[in-house]
Amino acid sequence: MRPFTQCVSALSCALAFGLQAPLAAGATDSVGDFRHMGVASCASSVCHGKIKPQQDRDVALNEYTIWSQNDRHSQAYNRLKSPLSTQIAGKLGIANPSGAKICLDCHADAMPAGKTGPTKFRISDGVGCEACHGGAEKWIETHAQPTATHKDNLARGMYPTEQPLPRATLCLSCHLGTRDKFVTHVLLGAGHPRLSFELEAFTTNQPAHYVVDADYLKRKGKIEGMNLWVTGQIENAERYLTLLQSNLLTPSGMIPELAFYDCFACHHQTDNIRWSRARVGPGINPGTVRLQKQNLLMLQAVAEAVGPDKLAELVAGTDNLIRAGQSDAQSLRSAAEKLLDGLRRCEGWSTRVYSVAEINAVRKILLRFAAEDRASDFGVAEQVVLGVESLSYSLNDHDRRQAALDALFDRVKSGANFNAVMFADAARRVQSQF
Ligand code: HEC
Ligand code: HEC
Ligand code: HEC
Ligand code: HEC
Repeated sequence: MRPFTQCVSALSCALAFGLQAPLAAGATDSVGDFRHMGVASCASSVCHGKIKPQQDRDVALNEYTIWSQNDRHSQAYNRLKSPLSTQIAGKLGIANPSGAKICLDCHADAMPAGKTGPTKFRISDGVGCEACHGGAEKWIETHAQPTATHKDNLARGMYPTEQPLPRATLCLSCHLGTRDKFVTHVLLGAGHPRLSFELEAFTTNQPAHYVVDADYLKRKGKIEGMNLWVTGQIENAERYLTLLQSNLLTPSGMIPELAFYDCFACHHQTDNIRWSRARVGPGINPGTVRLQKQNLLMLQAVAEAVGPDKLAELVAGTDNLIRAGQSDAQSLRSAAEKLLDGLRRCEGWSTRVYSVAEINAVRKILLRFAAEDRASDFGVAEQVVLGVESLSYSLNDHDRRQAALDALFDRVKSGANFNAVMFADAARRVQSQF
């Protein structure tokens, strides 16, 4: 099994066409607006707890079964009692990780006091239904009525998980973090796994508890895999640039928050010399730390294919940001702000209709970046491989490219053993097959 994109799911192919609806009027933009009633409110055998998918309803009704048996979100709280969590917590001086806000914020449906239902809410349910679908207080009674439309549900506070941008915002709130909850280098140093995310791949990897069939498309519209991928890249980049401007960057003293920097610029063997000008960009010296730029580079590939008027600004903005990341917090804030401004003008890429030729072009550009050694920092290489695979699902030629994709995946299996030269080499070897 792949570390991230675990093989073919009907979903990403099924999603490979169409458009997304605009956010319905009155729809919520937060999962926390209303009280969370608890997973047990959804899970009964007459509701979402059926063992087998039901054919006679729009919704399969076995969502709880899939979530509780196969979805890691249902284990997120239990994981706080694992030996690894005990070890992480021990190093941080936290006595009980499964009672600590710093951990529960992402490993459970952490609602403030007074925002949970009276009887069935349990923090131990982990990342439960309402952590993604929004507090059910106002829709739990009505949403199963035959006359209730999806629009009605959204108006009562259901979160629009079907739409790429709200979905990206939701997932990234935990998978990258916010000002208030963030896996800092202190947590990483204590042993927390490095976070990385790609919306299309993680959507595929989360065991699907929904079926994209004719009635689903009618109720919720069609979403292209390409749109999911681009939306994930934009939201990830914008969130990163926003976090860079926050006080997370400079907690105190002379060391900035290292979680924003390329991990493997520091964490690699000193007899594996890998620095190259193509990779680090202009004005960056050997032996200096560099900010992460994986999402920004993915967006440069999109610009090259479909928005050439935006390309020069994006390239200059990225280079400027990386240089500012080596100077002082004030220059970095203004570089991040400026780039964020530029990215906001690219947001149309998220909902745009892409032709097969354009998706193909983006895929080729990603591989060219890698082959030219511009994309062979580990974090970037990982996004290239995830992106090439996601776009191959969109183009429906994934199976024919399997051997080439495997060759690329083999090179990004481990950050610690990553070899930039060999990755660029692998990209050069498979390039002609795409
Ligand atoms: C900003 C959100 C966030 C915070 C805060 C956070 N985690 Fe996590 N944690 C995650 C995510 C997301 C993953 C899954 C990463 C992946 O596989 O991509 C994860 C994974 C883990 C894992 C590995 C699970 C496995 O079996 O692979 C452990 C253990 C863990 N976290 C413990 C903790 C502990 C202990 C704390 C508090 C000290 C904590 N986490 C705080 C988001 C967070
Ligand atoms: C990590 C986020 C997440 C969690 C946790 C989660 N879901 Fe979902 N759910 C999604 C996404 C994403 C979709 C697909 C987009 C959509 O249709 O809204 C979805 C779709 C659905 C659908 C729509 C099916 C359809 O045909 O329209 C139902 C019903 C559902 N989930 C129920 C549940 C229930 C019940 C739980 C808890 C047992 C749960 N979900 C937990 C993210 C989540
Ligand atoms: C409330 C926080 C939270 C939200 C929101 C959330 N996740 Fe997660 N996710 C986690 C945590 C924590 C884990 C690790 C669980 C564990 O293994 O203990 C995880 C694990 C995963 C995994 C397994 C990772 C792996 O390495 O195999 C996938 C896939 C995933 N999430 C996808 C998504 C998607 C897609 C969304 C948005 C629809 C989403 N998540 C929203 C917290 C969250
Ligand atoms: C500027 C260099 C630098 C960057 C960038 C950096 N780290 Fe570190 N990291 C360190 C140092 C220094 C230590 C402390 C090593 C020690 O105590 O022996 C450390 C410790 C760690 C440890 C614990 C190692 C141990 O043996 O206890 C982990 C895990 C870790 N970092 C992960 C990461 C991840 C993941 C990232 C990127 C998100 C990252 N680091 C970015 C310098 C860096």
